[in-house]
Amino acid sequence: MATEAQAQWVLTATGRSPTNIAVIKYWGKRDEALILPVNDSISVTLDPDHLSATTTVAASPAFPSDRMWLNGKEIALSGGRFQSCLREIRKRARDVEDEKKGIKIKKEDWEKLHVHIASYNNFPTAAGLASSAAGFACLVFTLGKLMNVNEDYGELSSIARQGSGSACRSIYGGFVKWCMGKNDDGSDSMAVQLVDESHWDDLVIIIAVVSSKQKETSSTSGMRDTVETSPLLQYRAQTVVPGRILKMEEAIKKRDFESFARIISLVEKWNHSEGTPQVAYTFDAGPNAVLIARNRKTATLLLQRLLYCFPPQENDLDSYMVGDKSILSDAGVQSVADIEALPQPPEMKTPNQKFKGDVSYFICSRPGAGPKVLTD
Ligand code: ADE
Repeated sequence: MATEAQAQWVLTATGRSPTNIAVIKYWGKRDEALILPVNDSISVTLDPDHLSATTTVAASPAFPSDRMWLNGKEIALSGGRFQSCLREIRKRARDVEDEKKGIKIKKEDWEKLHVHIASYNNFPTAAGLASSAAGFACLVFTLGKLMNVNEDYGELSSIARQGSGSACRSIYGGFVKWCMGKNDDGSDSMAVQLVDESHWDDLVIIIAVVSSKQKETSSTSGMRDTVETSPLLQYRAQTVVPGRILKMEEAIKKRDFESFARIISLVEKWNHSEGTPQVAYTFDAGPNAVLIARNRKTATLLLQRLLYCFPPQENDLDSYMVGDKSILSDAGVQSVADIEALPQPPEMKTPNQKFKGDVSYFICSRPGAGPKVLTD
């Protein structure tokens, strides 16, 4: 039992971690428990102002058990993934002293101290926007701060991987590579930063959210089915991806949009009509499209096309574009009436191809920074 004086203190840390979108996808595990992939992957980290998880972790002798709340609702921490992250961080915990609060924790005390965790996502959870990537990266990063863990980011990335595979990439900003590793214990399966978020900062990333509902097939079961049933998966992992990883790394280093877009395919009509790729697109396991424009000017033209084809159902522009809303004024759109007045894009041959209500809303983002500590 905690004494009364002990029961009064609560030590907290708060962190924020971004989500990421893969441009060379992780699909298929070689070890389900350790979350070891069958191929390397590369992602771009999105601006945490637009898509991130914010997590506060608190430790107190007054807490009788570990507990967690996600977006205000209590969730079970009993799953293997949460347990792996908690165990691995606790193992590395060190002495902590907070003179102001009069708290002294010896590293061996952490095994007995329980934590309460509260996490919020600033975007729809479980809609294929990598919320668990941001969530587990944030959990590991923030627990690491609370427990004064001294490990480098590679080690934190490897621990976050055990929560959710793609979380290992959300430990860094900019462009990130998850090296699949070869060891059976997963010790060399972690992400590295290729370039930071300032390297290619004219990219604009627009996400068309067509559904914020929980996706029907989880990535875990989708991957399992693919591993079990697809004779092509090994071919992809062993023959196709290694060459593409090299090309993608080269394209990122040189900010070579042509190669970058060619690799992840094109927004067909417009790109064809322009002759050179303007916009690249990619999808994760959910239905939401992620569009990457080479610069602000192209993103503005893209947005005019998107709004022409997908006008909002409601007369509310503010909730139809979230994230960097300033792109709307670049596109000359101040109101829903302005959207109705947009001219048909010249490359569209069939008039009035409008799909009102098919997109719930858009998020405008850009390459962003990695996790950071927030003041409590
Ligand atoms: N899964 C989805 N969002 C999460 C979060 N913020 N923390 C932990 N797990 C999550």
